[in-house]
Amino acid sequence: MNRKYRKTVIAGNWKMNKTPSETKEFMTNFKAMMHTGRWCDIALCVPAVCIPAAVRAMRETRVGIGAENCNANASGAYTGEIATNMLVDAGCKYVIIGHSERRAMGETDADVNAKVLAALEAGLTPIMCCGESLEQREADITNEWIAMQIKLGLKGVPEDKIRKVVIAYEPIWAIGTGRTATPEQAQEVCEGIRAVVRKLYSSKNARAISILYGGSMNEKNAYELLAKPDIDGGLIGGASLVPEKFVQIIEAANQPTV
Ligand code: PGA
Repeated sequence: MNRKYRKTVIAGNWKMNKTPSETKEFMTNFKAMMHTGRWCDIALCVPAVCIPAAVRAMRETRVGIGAENCNANASGAYTGEIATNMLVDAGCKYVIIGHSERRAMGETDADVNAKVLAALEAGLTPIMCCGESLEQREADITNEWIAMQIKLGLKGVPEDKIRKVVIAYEPIWAIGTGRTATPEQAQEVCEGIRAVVRKLYSSKNARAISILYGGSMNEKNAYELLAKPDIDGGLIGGASLVPEKFVQIIEAANQPTV
């Protein structure tokens, strides 16, 4: 983290977990445990049907609610899809884009790019995900692969909007596996992502953008990961489903930094 130049963001990704009733229960418990001090930015990205309950519960708190996906089109014949202006109207502040689980369902870099542009246009903060497979890491092409995902995902994002984008580095082999990247591995890739942003935009923009790590981040390893200079927060799956754990990760994000 480097709070002098950029925001620290702790974001939960609930994936396909919890009903609206369970959402209400989680929020009640979570709110009771949260401190009121000046903390990092907090986001909870929840299943679409849970958004109203989450927004209602978190009104007048500093927790922003987000979606886990969106459609890049403004409206029309896209059965089952949700447009960005619908998310805004429902009270969302964030949207996860290009999660590896969605890419595995066929989402391409071009789709990710269109969604990032649509989210920015609507005033949402996109949390754009990137990450390599185990095969790619072992073939030693991680940096090139991630650089390509970032370049394609950010295509056409104007200079004055780039700081609104949050990037999440999530090595696929670390997601839901309990196998976290070491702080050094995560730092190396996050630093590389910042270098790509520097090349595409400017040093100032690269310094200002928040880059998160995701992949089995939990209340035990968060402190060490967040202590790294280029890891500005976390995108947390499993551990964001348990209020006690999520609160502890937020506390780890409050540690002093250099
Ligand atoms: P995990 O998921 O924390 O359960 O590994 C992270 C994610 O997929 O965003």
